[in-house]
Parts: sequence; C-alpha cells; structure tokens
Amino acid sequence: MTLLPKNLQESLERRLHALNKLRPLPHSAVQKLREHFKIEMTYNSNAIEGNSLTLKETFLVINEGITVKGKPLKDHLEAKDHHAALEYLYELVEYKKQQTLSEQLVRTLHQLITRETEEEWAGRYRESNVFIGGADHTPPDAIDVPLQMKKLIDWFQKNQKKLPIVELAALFHHRLVFIHPFLDGNGRTARLAMNLILMKAGYPLVVVLKNDRKKYYRVLSEADKENPKSFVQFVARAVERSLDIYLKTLTPISSKERERFLPLFQIAEKSPYSAKYLNLLIRQGKLEAHKEGRIWFTSQEALKRYQDGRQRKRE
Ligand SMILES: Nc1ncnc2c1ncn2[C@@H]1O[C@H](COP(=O)(O)OP(=O)(O)OP(=O)(O)O)[C@@H](O)[C@H]1O
Ligand SMILES: [Mg+2]
Repeated sequence: MTLLPKNLQESLERRLHALNKLRPLPHSAVQKLREHFKIEMTYNSNAIEGNSLTLKETFLVINEGITVKGKPLKDHLEAKDHHAALEYLYELVEYKKQQTLSEQLVRTLHQLITRETEEEWAGRYRESNVFIGGADHTPPDAIDVPLQMKKLIDWFQKNQKKLPIVELAALFHHRLVFIHPFLDGNGRTARLAMNLILMKAGYPLVVVLKNDRKKYYRVLSEADKENPKSFVQFVARAVERSLDIYLKTLTPISSKERERFLPLFQIAEKSPYSAKYLNLLIRQGKLEAHKEGRIWFTSQEALKRYQDGRQRKRE
C-alpha cells in the first residue's frame, strides 16, 4: 500500500523516466542546474530556520565571498556550511554509490551544516531535552535518542527495497525530525538526508520552499499523529517541481514530447474549466502541476490526461 495517489505516483515515474531517457545528460547544463539548486536549497533551507539572507545575498556570499552589511555573521557561515554540505552530498552520490544511510552519515551531515556555528554539538546527539518551536509534538527524552536513531536506521534498511523511494525519503525525513536527535539543525539535516535518498535513486535535488513553511509544519504535525499521507504528498510535489525544472531545461526544444507549462489562468482560458476549479483539482491531486513562487503551472497535456482519466472512469 502506497501513500501516494496513483496519478501522482505515475506522474513522478513518467517524469523520472523522461529524464532518464535523456541520459547521459549534457555536462555543462547539468552543472548549471546543480549550481542553481545548491543556491536555491541553501537559501530556502536556511531561511525556513530564520536565516535572514535573501536568495540573491546567498548567491553573493557563496559565489563572490562577500559579506552583507547589517546581516549576522552566523547567517553567512550557515550559508557556506550548507552549501559545502550539498557539495558533499553530490560527491557521495557520484563517487560512493554503495554508501548507504547510517547514523554516522546523518551525524556527518549535521556536522557539516553546523561546522562553523556550533563548537560543541556539531555532529553530536543532544544530551538534554528539546521542544520544536511551533509544534505540538515533544521529541523523545535525550536518553532515548541513541536507541531511537538505531531503530530509525533499522527501519530504513528494512524498508528501502519495499517502499517507493519518494515515500521512503519523506518518511525518513519525518521520523528523523520526530526524534529531533540534535539540539538545533534537525530540519536542515533531515532535508539533506531525504535528498540523499532521492538523489541515489536518480532524482534531482528537492527543495522545501520557504514560502511553503506553514504547510510544511502543518503536514509534519499531521504525520506526528500517524497520518503521514499529506507529508508524503507534499514531498512528492516538491520532487515533481524539481523534475519539471530539469526536464524543462534539458529537453531539446525540438522534442515533440516536451510539455509546455503555463500559468494556471492561461490554461484555464483555453479550457472549459475555471482557474478556480483547476486549482481545486490540483489540490485534490487530480491534475499535475507545480508551483513557481505563488503561481501554479500546468500544461494542456496534463489537463488532457485528467480528462482522459475521467472519461475512462465513466466508461
Ligand atoms: N510537528 C513537527 N513534528 C516533527 N518535526 C517538526 C514539526 N514541526 C517542525 N518540525 C521540524 O523541525 C525543524 C526545526 O527544528 P530545528 O530548529 O532543530 O532545525 P533547524 O534545521 O535548525 O531549523 P529549520 O529546520 O527550521 O531550518 C523544522 O524544519 C521541521 O523539519
Ligand atoms: Mg533551528
């Protein structure tokens, strides 16, 4: 039993398949995409946690080594650390394919993102209790963390061949932040670990957008109450978004298979539906779409697939 609706699962498979068909991917275009995603994820992942750098400032701090006046030193260091952690992730995926997720690896990721800002606790489990700001869930007592982490890795190993990758990655993320093994930096570490699982399976880097923070917290708290479905879907949407960006960039213009993604209202104009109705279909997971900023993008082909699906159901 999978937690993903069939159409979302199919949409991910179709996109991953389309990406794999383009392999070997053109080196320089992939390099550019990676640079873009590294900055985008560094900005978003740190901003979710309250880092004050903007996307552009993050770019400048990483690529030009500049210091932004009036912004805390800590925010600069966190950006650099996070960017370095992503480079490590890419290396792992490329050169150490066999290396599987372990407690040590999770701790290494934590150590990398807190290297410059945390002297004592970088890469070390907490020894005191913590709360998660803005959440009802109270993580387990510090004394239970080592056992819970061991159980988490056991769970992962048992399920890594059984569950669809996106589901496995999302559930791992939730379980890790549920334990909250570190004093700080749990969210960032979990988003990295989730990406490691996805990237090993050929998915591009996936970004939890700062704009989606509210929803991210809401679906995590549902998952705390043993209802992880919305969180898995939330992650699946993020995966879909990254795949779309890769496909959009890497598919040769001439390719007939290329789908043209347009803002929702433009698709609605040429369809029998209102933008409001299409928006509802998207939220119900019935119409494939992705978000850029605050705007939904979908395609004529996606709408056609929805209509064909309905037709089939009627028959
Ligand atoms: N209800 C919840 N249950 C479990 N985990 C949650 C819940 N709400 C939020 N979280 C996680 O807790 C993280 C915050 O914890 P922490 O401050 O240790 O991490 P961080 O990396 O410093 O911050 P952030 O994740 O906000 O960037 C959130 O990013 C999110 O992943
Ligand atoms: Mg924090």
